[in-house]
Parts: sequence; C-alpha cells; structure tokens
Amino acid sequence: MKLAFIIDPIHLLDPCHDTSIALIEAAQILGHEVWVTQANLLSVAEGKAWAVLQRVELVPVQLVERRWIAANPWYKLSDSSLTSLETMDAVFMRTDPPVNDSYLYATYILDYVDQNKTLLINSPSGIRGANEKMYALQFTKAIPETIVSADKQFIRQFVEAKGAAVLKPLGNKAGEGILFLQSSDRNFNSIVELSTLQGRVPVMVQTYLPEAKEGDKRIILLNGEPIGALNRLSSGTDFRNNMATGGTVAQTEITPREHEICTQVAERLRQDGLIFVGIDVIGGYLTEVNVTSPTGIREIDRLDGTHLGYQVIQWIEQSLNSRRQEE
Ligand SMILES: Nc1ncnc2c1ncn2[C@@H]1O[C@H](COP(=O)(O)OP(=O)(O)O)[C@@H](O)[C@H]1O
Ligand SMILES: [Mg+2]
Repeated sequence: MKLAFIIDPIHLLDPCHDTSIALIEAAQILGHEVWVTQANLLSVAEGKAWAVLQRVELVPVQLVERRWIAANPWYKLSDSSLTSLETMDAVFMRTDPPVNDSYLYATYILDYVDQNKTLLINSPSGIRGANEKMYALQFTKAIPETIVSADKQFIRQFVEAKGAAVLKPLGNKAGEGILFLQSSDRNFNSIVELSTLQGRVPVMVQTYLPEAKEGDKRIILLNGEPIGALNRLSSGTDFRNNMATGGTVAQTEITPREHEICTQVAERLRQDGLIFVGIDVIGGYLTEVNVTSPTGIREIDRLDGTHLGYQVIQWIEQSLNSRRQEE
C-alpha cells in the first residue's frame, strides 16, 4: 500500500512517544510505502486534493530496559513532489490541535479526496463535525455533569451547585488551558473572563471527578473496537493527568463499565468515519473523544508488549481488500 500522513513537521515529533511515528513505523515494517506532508502543504486543483509529499524512511525504535530508544537521526526524507492524494491507498490526518482555521481548511481540502479510491483516517467531515470536548456530550449516559457556556453567571451557578469543577477550552489538547474551579476561588471571575475571552467564547465546565487521582484512562478504539488502554497519573504537583503535563503512565485493564462506554460510542464513531480514536475515561465517566491525533500506542506497546500499530495497518489492509473484492 501507499500511505500518506498529514502531520506536524516531523522534526518536532518524538519517535518514542508520538503515535503518528508508531503508525508510520508499523506500515514500513509491514512492507508499505509512506509519505509525509503537513496541513499547510495541501491544495486543490482540477477538483482533486494534492499534497507536497516527501517519502519517509524511519529507523525503528528499540525497546531497551522497558524504554524506547531512537537512533539519531531517526528518519530520512526524500525530495518533495506535488502529488494527487488519490494515488494513495490511505491518508492519515494527524495534525495536532488547536483546531484553528488552517486545520479546518485542511479538512475542507481533504473533502476533495475521492473516498472510493482512498481511505481517509479520520474522515474529514467526521473530524470537522466532532469537537473533541463536545462530541462526548451526546453520550448522556456516559458523561459527568457538564455545561458549555460563555455566561459567567450560569457558570457560577453550576460550580456552586457542584462544589468543584474543571473548566476546559473547547479547542485545546494535552491539558492546555484546563483549570480547576471552585466558586470560592478569589480569581473565579478572572478565570472565567480570561477563558471565555470576556464572554465571547464558550467553554466546557464539568463537575470535578475526585477519581481523577486514580487516573485518566486512555482507551484506543479502532473502528469502534477497543484495542488497548493506558492509565495516566498526575505528577502530584498538578491536578491534570496528561502525559504532556508531566503525568506518568501505568498499565491498566478495560473494566466492564468502560467496555459499555465503548459500545455506546462505537456505532456513532463508525457512522462519522472516525476510525482511529482515543477516548478518555475518569472514574467510569467519558470526558473526551480524541479524534484529531490521539496518542498512547507507544506507551501501551511498551507496557503491554502489544503491537497496536500493526493492528491498525492490518485493519486498513483488510478493509481495502474487502472493499476491492466488492467492486
Ligand atoms: N471532570 C474532571 N474531573 C477531574 N479532572 C478532570 C476532569 N476533566 C478533565 N480533568 C483533568 O484534566 C485533564 C485534561 O482533561 P481532558 O478533558 O482530557 O482535556 P485534554 O486532554 O484535551 O487537555 C485530565 O487528564 C484530568 O486530569
Ligand atoms: Mg485528554
């Protein structure tokens, strides 16, 4: 197969942590050809989507004493050439949030990839339609009590009723802008004003789940099926459990309640073309559905001895094969 990955500049990625690199590496090891590009290198011409592609070859990471070790340099890029994305069997859109104008326009460009020829992971309309924070709200049985609002008074009432809450900007990732909120906080008004840009931008405010101290679980879903999970614990000096805020990772299992949550979201994810997704679960509650560039497979592979990247690439092989047999 020929695969293209739309990613942030490759030199900024960490081969020992980033799932995009784990997927590229798996594809390469399974004998496929991989190209990389960036959201700002996409174009539309003649009614088709094009990208400035560079062929990438990786030196696979090695597990040494339970840690991934990368070679230096760990990747090699070819010269670039403007190529129709229709020549690819699959295209991964894995640019990191924020979901800003350039991100959104990239998804509109990807609408011009013929999805009968090329599998898009994830579907551009699916990503566009699924705000990572707000998508979870539709699964009313799975989420903690939550409001989305820019209204300071409404937010204050909610926080007073709950005692403690977590405020989340709607477009960020990796713990950015996540704030612990209590109505007695002397900065309460300022926090809400800063986060809502003086009442102009809505934010999510969610009841604080004390179980977060036992971890924020990341479950990786492939076409709606859970394929692996990882627990994230906070550093101790920060209430946030994100790996990017110094959280540590630990091996974990998927509980029956979490399997139930996966079942609740699966059908909708498949309908929306959200094939590779990471959900976050705290204390048995769904808090986030990560659809843009979910991560975690390097850590899960390290802790569980799995090869989740192979599973993803093999799933693509199989779904393209069965699609082509139908034709
Ligand atoms: N309802 C909640 N109760 C307690 N802690 C929370 C809650 N929601 C989020 N957090 C904390 O904030 C972190 C980031 O939240 P999340 O919603 O996953 O946003 P993101 O990872 O995109 O920044 C979590 O890892 C967790 O530590
Ligand atoms: Mg998260």
